[in-house]
Amino acid sequence: MRVLIVGQGGREHALAWALAKSPRLTGLYCAPGNPGIAQVARCVRIGLGGGSELAEWALANRIDLTVVGPEAPLVTGIADEFAARGLPLVGPSRKAAEIEGSKVFAKELMRRWGIPTAEYEVFTDPGEALAYVRSRDMPVVIKADGLAGGKGVTVARRVEEAEEAVRALMGERVFGEAGRRIVVEEFLPGREVSVLALTDGRTVLPMAPARDHKRLEDGDQGPNTGGMGAFSPVPDVGPDCLDRIENEILRPVVRALEQEGRPYTGILYAGLMLTPDGPKVVEFNCRMGDPEAQSILPRLESDLLEALEALARRRLDEVTLKWRPEAAVTVVLASEGYPGAAATGRPIRGLKEAQAEGALIFHSGTREEAGQLVTAGGRVLAVTALGETLAAARDQAYRAAARIRFAGMRYRRDIASHA
Ligand code: AMP
Ligand code: GLY
Repeated sequence: MRVLIVGQGGREHALAWALAKSPRLTGLYCAPGNPGIAQVARCVRIGLGGGSELAEWALANRIDLTVVGPEAPLVTGIADEFAARGLPLVGPSRKAAEIEGSKVFAKELMRRWGIPTAEYEVFTDPGEALAYVRSRDMPVVIKADGLAGGKGVTVARRVEEAEEAVRALMGERVFGEAGRRIVVEEFLPGREVSVLALTDGRTVLPMAPARDHKRLEDGDQGPNTGGMGAFSPVPDVGPDCLDRIENEILRPVVRALEQEGRPYTGILYAGLMLTPDGPKVVEFNCRMGDPEAQSILPRLESDLLEALEALARRRLDEVTLKWRPEAAVTVVLASEGYPGAAATGRPIRGLKEAQAEGALIFHSGTREEAGQLVTAGGRVLAVTALGETLAAARDQAYRAAARIRFAGMRYRRDIASHA
């Protein structure tokens, strides 16, 4: 099979690495890719062009299966462009991807179908939103309706913070049209877990749970980021909890989307809070998580390509996923300035030494400049190690991370340490 991956981050590198192991693979391409992905796939520079340009390229290059990493092309309809040409693709249609593209849609869907999530109200009028947040007990959570690169959510502990978030989203429009509508929701206490599932619209196949670390600094302090590290499995998600997540959340939402004429195929990511009342949905994403993918995929023993091919052919009922017993820990190495404007162009050293420690190095934001690997984004590398226990995996991941050097490099020292 000839496979195309769409995207250019650490998640796509992990996908490429996992797909490259498949004996069924005859050609692996990535658009646009990055220098790490280029070690296992041929990187092609084609614009997304609303998805049609890529679909034409896939057609001309006899691509058998396309796997889309990031949400943006899915939300704008890349799956529909491929479907119109009869090209198999792993990822939901534009209408189904609204589950991530519009928080209002996701919340209303959950309310209609009784899927457990935080209580909420929707606002299109800033004055009404301000009056509402002033009437609530803190903390309260304010969310932009549309995509905001993971930065559209504020957990406000004080009413002034809530007011400021409403003004930024609706008044200043810091995320443009994404803040035309907002969701104000109840704060959910508890620990978070990400449960991702493969689905062909009928069969729902959960993957091993993972936990992300969203805050920049140790002890969950500092600003929210795209994710500073992850681990899998998650000890506080036992088989009973996973059953509940599957039966109360994942299956019902896939059924709900089908019933509402938006059948969902692809990878569905449930961001969940383990509250005292059971698991509740914080958000849905229409793709794999980053850095969750870098912890989950190295634990997958089954052939990923076989599973994704079955998904695209609506034959997921024929697949079971086998997981390695080892734990995985992923530490993200970030640039100075992240999650704000990040410094780039800084030479990266020590990757060979880090690999020699037995770690997998996934490239998130790197590029080559005059034959030298340099930083090219906020999150630069994701270092994953497998171990018999989470503690062993963590030690090994940190030993490897300590070998890598670039000016301004920062990372959390406490990934997986509270597990
Ligand atoms: P989201 O982009 O929706 O994942 O939100 C970003 C982060 O904000 C989540 O990972 C949570 O840590 C936090 N968050 C979002 N919604 C809630 C909520 N209702 N209660 C508590 N924390 C939340
Ligand atoms: N790690 C969170 C996300 O990918 O959305």
